[in-house]
Amino acid sequence: MRHHHQYLMIPGPTPVPQTVALAGAAPMINHRGPEFGELLKEATRGLQEILKTRNTVLTFPAAGTGAMEAAAVNLTTPGERVLVGVAGEFGARFAEILRVGGADVAIVKSEPGYPVSPEAIRDALRKDRSITTVVITHNETSTGVTMDLAGIRAVIDREDVLLVVDAVSSAGAIDIETDGWGIDVLVTASQKALMCPPGLAFVTVSPKAWDRVEKTRARSVYFSFANARKFLEKPTPQTPYTPAVSLLFSLREAVRQILAEGLDAVFARHALLARATRAGMRALGLELLAADEWASNTVTAVKLPAGVDGHKLLEMLRDRYGVILAGGMGELAGKIFRIGHVGAVNWSDIVVTLSALQMALAGLGVKAAHGAAVAAAERVFSEQGWPL
Ligand SMILES: Cc1ncc(COP(=O)(O)O)c(C=O)c1O
Repeated sequence: MRHHHQYLMIPGPTPVPQTVALAGAAPMINHRGPEFGELLKEATRGLQEILKTRNTVLTFPAAGTGAMEAAAVNLTTPGERVLVGVAGEFGARFAEILRVGGADVAIVKSEPGYPVSPEAIRDALRKDRSITTVVITHNETSTGVTMDLAGIRAVIDREDVLLVVDAVSSAGAIDIETDGWGIDVLVTASQKALMCPPGLAFVTVSPKAWDRVEKTRARSVYFSFANARKFLEKPTPQTPYTPAVSLLFSLREAVRQILAEGLDAVFARHALLARATRAGMRALGLELLAADEWASNTVTAVKLPAGVDGHKLLEMLRDRYGVILAGGMGELAGKIFRIGHVGAVNWSDIVVTLSALQMALAGLGVKAAHGAAVAAAERVFSEQGWPL
């Protein structure tokens, strides 16, 4: 039987609300005309509100990785000493992008399931006074761990050091005080908390980061921050090259919905869904990769029980129950599975996911009392006073 609905519970791309998808179906417009100017202006303002920043927000038609590469080539000169906090695959990717761009990369690495701590960053900075830039993943999607950004900012005691943050899997779902915490550059993308199809990448740039951009010979035409700002600041805002107009229509609608729900409500919803998910997993006797203290509100990494084949589990969830989960990445492949609960997801998605997981696991020999996972989640929802 085909499932009437597919539960896309991966940490991105995430479900796109129908209203957001339909907004993208609007007739094409002139990307140099006033209508596009208004579209880009509203989308940009909305992003500033969601990211709590007055900094410039640049939009590129790209995957999140494109925004990471853009940050690397606009902010660093070959040979520049950069410190990268690596808590998993995405931190490692940022380090690799910087290395390919010619930076001299120092790494502080945490064990899988643990965050890179402010103390580790502080020690690395103390040891090496030539570091000009600290790069950190806010939410490491491969392990389900959230880093303490405010804490990390607090240990950067040199005025000229920039803080660059990959918030691809957190911005819009987990609170980030971009200006309040002094984040100089933040990169994110459309396909996770922002509930849009993939294809748009965003970068916030602080005044201090602009000083760096001006001193750095940009090694990209397509990703030039200076050029993007020049076009954004025209009386009719534009982008240097043909923008992904349809995706921007979708983005504007998504941003309106997020702001209508209210940022605090959006953040609280993600926190609650994450907590219910963790409770459900524990009720099945499963072990989580990350401690609650730093467990992500957008993705939960669960250790595969002994003897359970991860591929088989994910296949069964997809084919029998219509629930799509993610496997482990890199060294965690075959060791964990990951549940995404980010963007346009709600309590009912969690209930279905937990029920499906319990049934699929039972089929693979991991048994628990009927309804145990859902019961645990229900308890969290009731105790926390759902609906919020
Ligand atoms: C934390 C993080 N950084 C970067 C990326 C890369 O984004 P993209 O796949 O859009 O290039 C992802 C994607 O999952 C991510 O979760």
